[in-house]
Amino acid sequence: MKINPDRIIIFDTTLRDGEQSPGATLNVEEKLTIARQLAKLGVDVIEAGFPYASAGDFEAVNKIAEQVGVEGGPIICALARATYHDIEAAAQALKPAAHPRIHTFIATSDIHLEYKLKKTRAEVLAITEEMVSYAKSFVDDVEFSPEDAVRTEPAFLYEVLEKAIAAGATTVNIPDTVGYTTPSEFGALIRSIKENVRNIDQAIISVHGHNDLGLAVANFLEAIKNGARQLECTINGIGERAGNAALEELVMALHVRRQYFNPFLGRPPESEEPLTNIDTRQIYKTSRLVSNLTGILVQPNKAIVGANAFAHESGIHQDGVLKNRLTYEIMDAQSIGLTENKIVLGKHSGRHAFQTRLKELGFELSENELNKAFVKFKAVADKKKEITDWDLESIVNDEIQQPPELFRLELVQVSCGNHSRPTATVTLRTPSGEELTDAAIGTGPVDAVYRAINRVVNVPNELIEFSVQSVTAGIDAIGEVTIRLRHGERIFSGHAANTDIIVASAHAYVNALNRLYAALQKQEADKKPTTAAVAQ
Ligand code: KIV
Ligand code: ZN
Repeated sequence: MKINPDRIIIFDTTLRDGEQSPGATLNVEEKLTIARQLAKLGVDVIEAGFPYASAGDFEAVNKIAEQVGVEGGPIICALARATYHDIEAAAQALKPAAHPRIHTFIATSDIHLEYKLKKTRAEVLAITEEMVSYAKSFVDDVEFSPEDAVRTEPAFLYEVLEKAIAAGATTVNIPDTVGYTTPSEFGALIRSIKENVRNIDQAIISVHGHNDLGLAVANFLEAIKNGARQLECTINGIGERAGNAALEELVMALHVRRQYFNPFLGRPPESEEPLTNIDTRQIYKTSRLVSNLTGILVQPNKAIVGANAFAHESGIHQDGVLKNRLTYEIMDAQSIGLTENKIVLGKHSGRHAFQTRLKELGFELSENELNKAFVKFKAVADKKKEITDWDLESIVNDEIQQPPELFRLELVQVSCGNHSRPTATVTLRTPSGEELTDAAIGTGPVDAVYRAINRVVNVPNELIEFSVQSVTAGIDAIGEVTIRLRHGERIFSGHAANTDIIVASAHAYVNALNRLYAALQKQEADKKPTTAAVAQ
């Protein structure tokens, strides 16, 4: 795929840097689901993982390369430190991709050289040249990052970038690894790179930045004004520590303020041509998917995708919006794919109406997924008179984003109140097909349910986060429960929706336990030698 440098290239690193968020562990299937949605969203590059880091990462990059990195699809990128084994693993994992990219990096700031790498500048220069050339021996499309570029002495940074380009790097990325820079300073750095690095016009300048001071998006916008053409970002801004620059904020800033940014890309201000390839109507759906699968909730006041981003609370604002939307709104909720929350279906709606509305909302379900979602829809419609688009979205996400069903919740029943001790009874079907029932007392009904489930599943874990959000207003609203639990060093998330929040809580917990259980099974399987390995 040819990338047009006259517009901004969106490089999504949700599956690599985003997955480095504390607790955001995704399994291979979940990564594939997100990668497919990123392709629908229209990102130019998907950084799918770090293949040398683990067998799971290798497999995820490989499957994404095969199933999403098709002809006409996005570039699939894999991260590699500047070492032979990392680059070989990246090249291997990327083999099925129609448009593969290897992204190799080495730190260049003095503090990293002295304490982390224990290398001299001359050594780093030599490694850069050698490893970019090595990556180039596998793929044409090579990206190079001088890690901690912002804190690197500029003259040395120019030298490293020059070497990388001479060795074949087609993109040079400037990371603000520690989220330290400020907008005007970062803009000036990008300009100085353009002015001081020989042959810089042979590569695309990319930016990557963390949000430790809350400035990542502002820094990137200033970088564009000074010549950067690729933005490395994540959905909902997730990522290492305070996260990365948020894709949805960058894209909507470029969309809403196109007239302001057009001239920096050599266009007349009034040009209508989009500045990115993103289908903005897919933003909301992608945000929800990433939040549901990672278990990382979006804060209500988060720009663009927060629950309050399009809500007007003050009477003066509501009055203004009713008179003319533009009095208090700079963008239309529908431009990010938020549908009007109108009543669409009810308990008499048939399968055809259900399927048609889902299609209109952009959901393409397999026959099996549609069947499951329809059963769930009927169950919800029995309890809730009016089903809105938001309810539908919650129902579908709940049905199709489920982890493998190893344990299945068959029954949950609680008794609680101000004069009784909260007690729960649960029945679970185990992976071997047995039905087991147990009961427990807890500090509250959810605690009692979780204790009862634990007695059946019997895998040690610590619940570290529990949250309930309602999808719509009203007493019969669907409640969405998101939980995260810890097992040793690893964190697993679970998500479920139901009009009964105790039932949703039980399902969310079983989902998280299924993820944990599957990971333990995989760990066991990885320990056993395969027949092929034994035969060698
Ligand atoms: O933050 C960082 O420096 C990185 C690099 C690997 C690009 O994530
Ligand atoms: Zn990073």
